[in-house]
Amino acid sequence: MNTAYRGNPEAVRALVQPDRVHRDLYINPEIFELEQEHFFANTWSYVGHDSQIPKPGDYITVEIAGRPLIAVRHTDGSVKVLMNRCAHKGSRLASEACGNTGKFFRCPYHAWTFKTDGSLLSIPLKSGYEGTQLQQCESAKGVATVKNVRLYRGFIFARLSETGPDFEAYFGDSLSSIDNMADRSPEGELEVAGGCLRYVHQCNWKMFIENLNDTMHPMVAHESSAGTAKTMWSGQPADLPKPMAIEQFVPFMSDYKFFEDMGVRVFDNGHSFTGVNFSIHSKYAAIPAYDEAMKAAYGEQRTQEILGLARHNTVYYPTLTIKGAIQAIRVVRPIAVDKTLVESWTFRLKGAPPELLQRTCMYTRLINSPFSVVGHDDLHAYRGIQEGLRAGGNPWISLHRDFNEAEIGKPDVTTKGTSEISMRNQYRAWARYMTLTM
Ligand code: FES
Ligand SMILES: [Fe+2]
Repeated sequence: MNTAYRGNPEAVRALVQPDRVHRDLYINPEIFELEQEHFFANTWSYVGHDSQIPKPGDYITVEIAGRPLIAVRHTDGSVKVLMNRCAHKGSRLASEACGNTGKFFRCPYHAWTFKTDGSLLSIPLKSGYEGTQLQQCESAKGVATVKNVRLYRGFIFARLSETGPDFEAYFGDSLSSIDNMADRSPEGELEVAGGCLRYVHQCNWKMFIENLNDTMHPMVAHESSAGTAKTMWSGQPADLPKPMAIEQFVPFMSDYKFFEDMGVRVFDNGHSFTGVNFSIHSKYAAIPAYDEAMKAAYGEQRTQEILGLARHNTVYYPTLTIKGAIQAIRVVRPIAVDKTLVESWTFRLKGAPPELLQRTCMYTRLINSPFSVVGHDDLHAYRGIQEGLRAGGNPWISLHRDFNEAEIGKPDVTTKGTSEISMRNQYRAWARYMTLTM
């Protein structure tokens, strides 16, 4: 397919068919540019967590849709998302990943200052602007802000484009996974614990996002890591308490039937989770002090409902993936068509005993972090795809597994966990939001 995609939404739509997608989605630089301009601007992306910026003036910097942004706690307690760009000559206002700017941002170049809601506070030697058209220019209005910002249980999301669905319509019932993660705190609140582990993948961002609900790979790709742990532990008496690492590694080696019965649920706009019925997290040993704290906060029945949901990964398409049962998230920050930053964050459940955070940190180290032994299996697979797709002969990626035409257009489908429906669902959303403003 040699079509130029810019200005050609029909050609872009043709890359996504009901049961397969074209390789240009992963390897064509023009498609990546258009994603930054359209797809990532039209969809809701994860910015960061409320608990990272508790005090007025606290800020974090992120990049979404190729635009540098600042999320800052304003003096009135609200969270503002500003373009990280001075209104004078365009310098970045904040260079650090996080910090506290006090009551205003001061540009490091000529010291224009801006309040934390972006409005212009002062300009040095202001008299030089008398008789000029500055007041008629965008620059006098201050720093450009992102209007569509939404906090949900502490998770901050933004949509850069003026066009697109509102927050509730976009995420719908998939928000129940965030609810479950926050409800697991006896106080109903989460906070980021420790720093961020960053991992640059030399591959397209979609490989990571697709893989989160790809249940046909663990028993194959993770055989050398999780399989080794399983072999080491085999022969131990069934009632011998497992070390935490064994408890976390071994379920990856479950058979196809396990993952099939686990179930997958997909929502409109590309979101999905596996682990409808149970998951690889279901059999973790109980932590008695935690159970007590939960029962004291919620009562017996509600505690059982909350802890009984042990979903595997939930994908908040396209940038946030969470593991509610483990209180860990991974965030995708696309850099280039073949380069993706993956951030791994861990959370503390407020009011829970320290064993919970220890379990989260153990999981992050073993499975999600740059030091993980399991994560490298996945990375090897992603890089293999990025390389393999350069081959000729067949431009298509097969997503046929358990395809059923009746799934198209349905806003909410639950089916067996080994279906490739979550990926088909992602690409239908991709085509929609990629071409919405083209
Ligand atoms: S570029 Fe910011 S004050 Fe000049
Ligand atoms: Fe994996």
